[in-house]
Amino acid sequence: MSEVKQIVNQLNAEGNLRHLLTLEGMPKEQIIHILDIAQQFVSVTDPAREVKKVPLLRGKSVFNLFFENSTRTRTTFEIAANRLSADVINLDILTSSTAKGESLLDTIDNLVAMQADIFIVRHSVSKAPIEIAQHVPDHVHVVNAGDGSHQHPTQGLLDMYTMRHFKRDFKGLKVAIIGDIVHSRVAKSNIFALRTLGCEDIRVIGPESLLPKDLDMLGVKVFHSMEEGLKGVDVVMTLRIQKERMEAGQVPEGEAFFKQYGLTPARLALAKPDAIVMHPGPMNRGVEIDSAVADGPQSVILNQVTFGIAVRMAVMSIVAGN
Ligand code: CP
Repeated sequence: MSEVKQIVNQLNAEGNLRHLLTLEGMPKEQIIHILDIAQQFVSVTDPAREVKKVPLLRGKSVFNLFFENSTRTRTTFEIAANRLSADVINLDILTSSTAKGESLLDTIDNLVAMQADIFIVRHSVSKAPIEIAQHVPDHVHVVNAGDGSHQHPTQGLLDMYTMRHFKRDFKGLKVAIIGDIVHSRVAKSNIFALRTLGCEDIRVIGPESLLPKDLDMLGVKVFHSMEEGLKGVDVVMTLRIQKERMEAGQVPEGEAFFKQYGLTPARLALAKPDAIVMHPGPMNRGVEIDSAVADGPQSVILNQVTFGIAVRMAVMSIVAGN
């Protein structure tokens, strides 16, 4: 789980955020600033508001480059860019010249020639957005929309927004993250952000094969039993098993996983009575979560999706706004 420390600098010469590539090492003030700006944008996305647009990115072109599948991230980036009055181009990777063997950086050069201002990049290869950020000219911005099992910074930020919205204070918060931590870019972004924001009780729960080896370096408590790990927590976040990133037989599957690590109403009852349930999606009902929990009164899973619009508006307006 250790990350190359000297990645491309996310900041420009003035110390402002130029790209968003990782939450590792992002200062607390910067995270809080993004969450505060997002809070202002929540009113722009209010369904009661007639005109849900602001002109902050008018004249800018946002290119959505999703080399891996996505429902929530791609769509909320598109909505967010539209609400900032940007022009949005969704490159269909399957029908693009990537299929004819064009390299990633050649594709980027061509899109820069079309006057791209912001690239939103999802890629199965960890750190591909960093490579792009190192390659593009100074006026172009790159936002990581999830790279391999490395980072998913805007998901981490919208998760922090959701926790702050429902729980207010990170100090004293007990957060349990369950399941496939080793392959989860979401878990990693969350752990870095939670530590930076002062959360002192971060727990991960899962089988040995799904937990990274160096978690204790990050001050994370490791549990292999749901019954132990869920006791008294304020936030329960469960994750999908990322079969696409593992070898067959690495974990108990389906019902077998659910029996040991599925989030059921009985297990959720071990957390605080007002604990919230989070999941970044997509969910596999009956594998990592019971429908009674996913659709239950403690679930804030769809709130996470809605907050994602405002958080992505904040990120794009900060990196590329004036
Ligand atoms: N949370 C998340 O990244 O969902 P998508 O894969 O649908 O974008």
